[in-house]
Amino acid sequence: ARTLKLALIPGDGIGPEVVTEAVKVLDAVTAGSDVAFEKTHFSLGAARFLETGDVLTDDDLAAISGHDAILLGAVGGVPGDPRLKNANIERGLLLKLRFALDHYVNLRPTTIYPGVPSPLASHGDVDFVVVREGTEGPYVGNGGAIRVGTPHEIANEVSVNTAYGVERVVRYAFEKAASRRKKLTLVHKTNVLVFSGSLWQSTVNRVASEYPEIAVDYLHVDAATIFFVTDPARFDVIVTDNLFGDILTDLAGAISGGIGLAASGNINPDGTYPSMFEPVHGSAPDIAGQQKADPTAAILSVALLLDHLGLADQAARVREAVVADIAARDGSPRTTTQIGDAIVSAITTPALENSH
Ligand code: NAD
Ligand code: IPM
Ligand code: MN
Repeated sequence: ARTLKLALIPGDGIGPEVVTEAVKVLDAVTAGSDVAFEKTHFSLGAARFLETGDVLTDDDLAAISGHDAILLGAVGGVPGDPRLKNANIERGLLLKLRFALDHYVNLRPTTIYPGVPSPLASHGDVDFVVVREGTEGPYVGNGGAIRVGTPHEIANEVSVNTAYGVERVVRYAFEKAASRRKKLTLVHKTNVLVFSGSLWQSTVNRVASEYPEIAVDYLHVDAATIFFVTDPARFDVIVTDNLFGDILTDLAGAISGGIGLAASGNINPDGTYPSMFEPVHGSAPDIAGQQKADPTAAILSVALLLDHLGLADQAARVREAVVADIAARDGSPRTTTQIGDAIVSAITTPALENSH
């Protein structure tokens, strides 16, 4: 039997609600198998900060690093809460984990599953993955402000792009495209962001010469948002910078039938550090505590986690159960727990065709 150590960070708002369902699914799909997850619960987030003043201590980080993988719900309080310093939790916890654990690939797949109520009337076969850079760009905190609060305030937020950082994520994206439909789209804003744009474009061009079988194209990020709505089936693998990838993947969630379906993996492909899996959405303070959150994104994040740990069969069973549940949706409201229960029972109850 193989025992894997899983760090759980349920976090704030709907985070604990959706993680509860995701763990139920993980337990169901591993029950009776030769793999077991030993879970450690970390109480982190806005709630912990308001209680203790801690965001993420060195001890927390060291303990989390010792796990095989991390499952996170969502962190962050109500936007604008005066008791939370701006970006305190987001930067000090979520980004700190991504940076410290070198999650340079932020993998965000999008599929429009059969029967899903996508807001797009006609969309064709949508199955793409955004490879979002996870450790650089405007997220690094390279900036500062002077004359704050005066009419002469100057606020700089510098996007950092290194040849090393861009190349490693671009290479990952090419490998991903090679294992899929062999199409890669670079999304940037090279018409305005000339320095970083040039680094991204020249890196893609150079690596492309090693992958003659892959069709490579380019879109400015503003035009990319058009095609996400008018022709999302054109995409296979998209590689892009940290901030563009953040924005595009909320849009991707929306077209796929709702942000409650969008899963992600913060991956350290080298395996030096544990990778971290989480829904694309946040803590949703507007619906927290009401059992209104769709736990599917968290459950599909478990599928990504299982894939990452080499448990492809279990990952496939989770996805099949989710696809079946989505296909059976008739629009009547269900609680978070009811959706989790339905997916668990699709896993534990043999499908009809197998029972004959
Ligand atoms: P959000 O994703 O939390 O919510 C946006 C909208 O989507 C809300 O109307 C919400 O009700 C809805 N929604 C989100 N998840 C849903 C689900 N599973 N089912 C149904 N509806 C869902 O974004 P926000 O309001 O901008 O951010 C709220 C807080 O979460 C902020 O503090 C933000 O910084 C934080 N945040 C954290 C993460 C993370 O931990 N990875 C990601 C995004 C935002
Ligand atoms: C996400 C979130 C985070 C991001 C925030 C909360 C730091 O929006 O995971 O998409 O911008 O990466
Ligand atoms: Mn986001």
